[in-house]
Amino acid sequence: MSLRVAVYGLGPIGQLIAREVLKKKDLNLVAAFDVDQKKIGKDLAELLMLNDKTGVHVSSPSELGMMLKSNGVKVVLHSTLTYLDHVYPQIVKCIKAGANVISTSETLSNPYYRYPELAELIHEMAKKYCVTVIGTGVNPGFIFDTLPALLTAVCTEVHSIHVTRSLDAAKRRESFQRKYGLGLGLDKFKAKMEIGELTAHVGYGESISLLADTLHVKLDKIVEGQEPLIAGSSTKTQYVTISIGTVSGIHGYGIGFLDGKEFIKIDLFAEVDREEFEEVVVDGNPPLKWRSTGTAGDIATAAMAINLIPKLSKVGPGLLRMCDIPLPSTFLNLGVNQV
Ligand SMILES: NC(=O)c1ccc[n+]([C@@H]2O[C@H](COP(=O)([O-])OP(=O)(O)OC[C@H]3O[C@@H](n4cnc5c(N)ncnc54)[C@H](OP(=O)(O)O)[C@@H]3O)[C@@H](O)[C@H]2O)c1
Repeated sequence: MSLRVAVYGLGPIGQLIAREVLKKKDLNLVAAFDVDQKKIGKDLAELLMLNDKTGVHVSSPSELGMMLKSNGVKVVLHSTLTYLDHVYPQIVKCIKAGANVISTSETLSNPYYRYPELAELIHEMAKKYCVTVIGTGVNPGFIFDTLPALLTAVCTEVHSIHVTRSLDAAKRRESFQRKYGLGLGLDKFKAKMEIGELTAHVGYGESISLLADTLHVKLDKIVEGQEPLIAGSSTKTQYVTISIGTVSGIHGYGIGFLDGKEFIKIDLFAEVDREEFEEVVVDGNPPLKWRSTGTAGDIATAAMAINLIPKLSKVGPGLLRMCDIPLPSTFLNLGVNQV
C-alpha cells in the first residue's frame, strides 16, 4: 500500500518535491495544484521534463478540497508562499479536507513567533480534523535550529551557540536569486526591501525562537537584520548579471539574548561565488565545533518535507514544529510507519 500524496505549489521547490515523490515507491502522487494558469491542466511530466506521462495533471487550487477528498490524499506537501497570513487560507482548506500538511513556508516553522493567533487557530483546527500541520525546510527547519539543537545533546552546559551558514547564491534557483536582489543597484535594493518586494532570507527569528524553545530557554529578546554585500568585480549567474557596485549577496543575522547576553547568534552569508560551509560553535561543556562543506539548499528543502512524512505517524494531531517530532532522518521505505 502506498501513501497518497499531493503537491501544492509547483515553483522550483514544489517541482523538486514532486520529482522526488515520484521516485519513492511507497508514495503515490495523486494530485498537484498551482495558481499559475500556464501550469494548470498540464501533466506533471511536462513541467518536470520527464519522458513518461505521470497521469497527474496540475489543478487549480479552487478544486483543492474536492480533489483531496476524492483522491483520499493523506499528506499535502505545500510550497507556495513565505508568510503565514498569505498561506493561512491554503492550509485551512487542506485541514478541512482531512489532509496532513507539511509546508516549506518559512514562517510556519515556528508560527508562534510572528503569528501567535493564527498559530493557535491552526492548532485547534488541526486537532479538530485530526491532522498534523508542520513547517520545515533547510532553513528554517534544519541548519539554524534543528541541527544546532541536536548537537547540544552531548553538552551538559551551554553558554552560547553560534551558527554560520555560507553559501554560493549562484547555485540557487532563480526565485532565490531574485528575492535576494542580486545584480540590483544599492538604492533599488534598499527601496525594494523597504516595501517588501524583496525579502532575502526570512526566518532568523523563527529559527532562534525554535532553537530556544527546543532547549527550554526563554530569551529576553531577539534581534535580526540583513545588509547587502556589494560586488567588487563583475560576474554573472545563470539568471542575473552582477556589475561592480551592485548587490552580489547578503549578510543576514539574528541574535537571541538571555540574561542580557548573546546566547544564540546566527549568521547567513549568501553571495555569488562564496565558499560553501555551515559551522556550529557551542560554548559549553564540552565545547563543540562542527563544520560542513555546505548543504545544497533546494534539494535539502524538498528532502526535509518528504522525510517528515513517516514521522507524522509518531505524533498526535495539531500544529507541530521540528522540536515536537521524533528525530528527523531520511526514510528508505515507509514499512510499518504508515501515516
Ligand atoms: N524553509 C526553507 O528552508 C525554504 C527553502 C526554500 C524555499 N522555501 C519557501 O518555499 C516556497 C516555495 O519556494 P519556490 O522557490 O518554489 O517559490 P516560487 O518560485 O515563488 O514558487 C511558488 C509556486 O507556488 C505558486 N503559488 C503562489 N500562490 C499560490 C496559491 N495561492 N496556490 C497555489 N499555488 C500558488 C506560484 O505561482 P505563481 O508563480 O503564479 O505565483 C509558484 O508556482 C517559498 O515560500 C520559499 O520561500 C523555504
